[in-house]
Formats: sequence, C-alpha cells, structure tokens
Amino acid sequence: FKDDIELVKSNINSYPDFPKSGILFRDIFSIFNNPKAAKVLDSVLLRYVKKIVPQTDVVVALESRGFLFGPTLALEMGVPFVPVRKKGKLPGIVYQKSYALEYGTDILEIQASSIQRGQKVLIVDDLIATGGTLEASCQLVRQCGGEVLQCLVVMELQDLKGKEKVSAQVESFIKF
Ligand code: PRP
Ligand code: HPA
Repeated sequence: FKDDIELVKSNINSYPDFPKSGILFRDIFSIFNNPKAAKVLDSVLLRYVKKIVPQTDVVVALESRGFLFGPTLALEMGVPFVPVRKKGKLPGIVYQKSYALEYGTDILEIQASSIQRGQKVLIVDDLIATGGTLEASCQLVRQCGGEVLQCLVVMELQDLKGKEKVSAQVESFIKF
C-alpha cells in the first residue's frame, strides 16, 4: 500500500505560482500521463470504497476534477452518481451555495431532486485545500435531505488545514 501511494505521489506534477503567485499547484491530470500510476490510484480508491459499499446510497463528485473519479467509483459501487457543478451549468431546480476558494470565490449547485431524504452520500474530489469546496458540497447534500457519510479526496494540502473546515470525515491518500 505504501509503495502504491509513493508511486502515485511521484507521478503528480507540481507547479509553483499557478494559477496565482504563492500557490504551489498539484496537478492531478499528470497521473493520467502514466497509465500504470493511474491504474494503481484507481485500485487504491476501489479498495477503499469497497469497504463502505454497504453504507453508501449515492456518490457525489465535484466539478471538474472530481468527475475524474466519482462516476467510476459509483459504477464500481453500483450506486447512482450525482454531480455538484459551478453556477449556471445544471438544468432544473437547483440549490446554491457560495464558498471561498484558495484562489477566489464561486457558487456551487446541485439538482434539488438528485438525492432522496435520508440517503447516505459519499462525496469525492481530487483535492482538499482550504476545505471550502467540500464544506459547501456537504451543505448542498444536506439541503437535498441527504446525509454525508464521508468525503474522499486523492490529495490533501495539509498546511491549509482544510479538514478542520469540513463538517464530515475526510479521507485522503496523498498528503502534501
Ligand atoms: C479545486 C480542486 C477542489 C478545490 C479545492 O477545484 O479540484 O475542488 O479547488 O479547494 P478548497 O479546498 O480550497 O475549496 P477548482 O475550484 O479549481 O475547480 P476545477 O476542478 O473545475 O478546476
Ligand atoms: N492543486 C489543484 N487544485 C487546487 C490546488 C492545488 O494545489 N489548490 C487549490 N485547488
């Protein structure tokens, strides 16, 4: 397991001062340049979600890099996938939540009828930085009547202490 994590970590490229000065940007897309590393990451995630299949009713993933993992995991778990998107992208009745990012602010939305009352939800994204995105998503899930079982991210920027901002358990595999 430790070797798997190291292989994945060594295939994530870092870019200083992107998209703004002072930010060291961890680029999840670089993992897909190496199919072996991408496959190892997929197997790490699958091993983990298999343990929580019985408790999970829905997988929610966050635009856009959460979509690299959410649908695959939902398929593997045999549960529905529901997107959380940036403002103005989802049709029908939506709930909105504004949030602060490490670089800027934005509004997230979820379709109001996408989760049934009492359903248990796994929230998936590529990375936790300040935790604002995940916390807004937890609140959107609850507004739909769902219960956040837990959040799952590939990478965690530990210095930013994002987990402290999130009102649910957050599991991460790669720590920076
Ligand atoms: C990034 C990242 C997370 C979020 C983490 O997404 O993929 O979703 O920021 O930041 P936080 O913990 O400080 O809230 P971004 O908003 O850049 O959107 P993108 O995936 O569409 O590029
Ligand atoms: N990488 C990717 N997404 C991010 C980062 C990062 O370092 N910080 C905030 N969102």
